Amino acid sequence: MKNIKKFLQMKKHQEPIVMVTAYDYPSGKYAEASGIDLILTGDSLGMVILGYPDTLQVTLDDMIHHTRATRRGAPDTFIIADMPHMSYHVSIENTRYNAGKLFKEGLANAVKLEGGKPSRLEAIRAIVDCEIPVCAHLGLTPQSINTMGGYKVQGKEEADYQAILQQALAIEDAGAFMLVLEGIPEKLGKEITAKLSIPTIGIGAGRYTDGQVLVFHDILGMCDFKPKFVKQYANLKEEIVNHLSTWKTEVKEGKFPDRENVYIPLEK
Ligand code: KIV
Repeated sequence: MKNIKKFLQMKKHQEPIVMVTAYDYPSGKYAEASGIDLILTGDSLGMVILGYPDTLQVTLDDMIHHTRATRRGAPDTFIIADMPHMSYHVSIENTRYNAGKLFKEGLANAVKLEGGKPSRLEAIRAIVDCEIPVCAHLGLTPQSINTMGGYKVQGKEEADYQAILQQALAIEDAGAFMLVLEGIPEKLGKEITAKLSIPTIGIGAGRYTDGQVLVFHDILGMCDFKPKFVKQYANLKEEIVNHLSTWKTEVKEGKFPDRENVYIPLEK
């Protein structure tokens, strides 16, 4: 299994780091079989697995349940589990407790949290102090959609650009081992990547981050909405619907089950 030291080396040697989301036993299994460097059991599972309109309803128990299932599918891959909204916002004591629960019960190798303001830096320090590696997340942070006013590219204005850059530097200083950058201009992704010694992983952050992450269901065409930063490598939604409807038709027409699908078939 690759670990945080290996990810640092990969950055040093400019070897792109590839991360994909996975949320359960089969997606974990497919991610591991494809040789992906690391998995994120993201709170995007709220939208792509549980059908919520955003990530805000996801609970710590949801994250533990799905991270554990992903681990069963990917026993030899480094897994980062998202800390859901309000699991690191209440107090440092509560933050440590929740990170520990996700780590021990979810069987993750690291946790991820969103934001870079002082209270988040304190959370990062407290979790790292428990020997739990932390990946941070800046730019378009989906748990902040209500305060951001929707899913909008961040860092377009100079003041915002500088604020994100300063937060990235502070996050490294606080002890995070990795930083996810989402929905920011390419120039900002490039500048942060050059200034940090920890690896940056981009999603809609341009071509110059140390690695890339995409949502499993987006890569495979299992979602209805396709953001600009997604490249869809298959259209599984269409394929699945076609295969299911072929099977349905065969059952209706008496073509399934066929003789070969039957135990001790009667003569017909
Ligand atoms: O939850 C998630 O899938 C994420 C990625 C979009 C980085 O945080």
